[in-house]
Amino acid sequence: MQIGLACDHGGFELKEELKAFFKTLGVEPIDMGTFSEDSVDYPDFGVLVAEKVSRGELGKGILICGTGIGMSMVANKFPGVRAALVNDLYSSRCSREHNDANILIIGGRIVGKELAKEIVKVWLETPFAGGRHQRRLEKIEMLEKEKFR
Ligand code: RB5
Repeated sequence: MQIGLACDHGGFELKEELKAFFKTLGVEPIDMGTFSEDSVDYPDFGVLVAEKVSRGELGKGILICGTGIGMSMVANKFPGVRAALVNDLYSSRCSREHNDANILIIGGRIVGKELAKEIVKVWLETPFAGGRHQRRLEKIEMLEKEKFR
């Protein structure tokens, strides 16, 4: 499965730190930028990953901005994207088990590097639990199709 990775300037330092860590997990994400600490607009980079996940061209994505909030807003505009802003280990596990999150978002200015690595590891290794959670995801899909009620 291919994983997309992108950030803005607020997430650049953490993205670079995580790149070495991915290697230890045997994962090689496609880095879509940004490639320096120069100020950029997070939507420009969030869409690069979210659009591809939405189209099924990427299996998963990881986005990083300063707080993670902007990237979450962008990513969740795309149909089929279930982007989870995760800044702790419990949410990381639940976002996969319960929500089948296909994009992980981390706040680069919120989470320390070592915690971020653990968050990524747990997120990549935790499967979706299905069952009652599947029904809930189907309701989200219905919302996208405006057929909830
Ligand atoms: C950039 O300064 C900052 O606004 C951005 O990284 C992010 O936190 C937005 O939600």
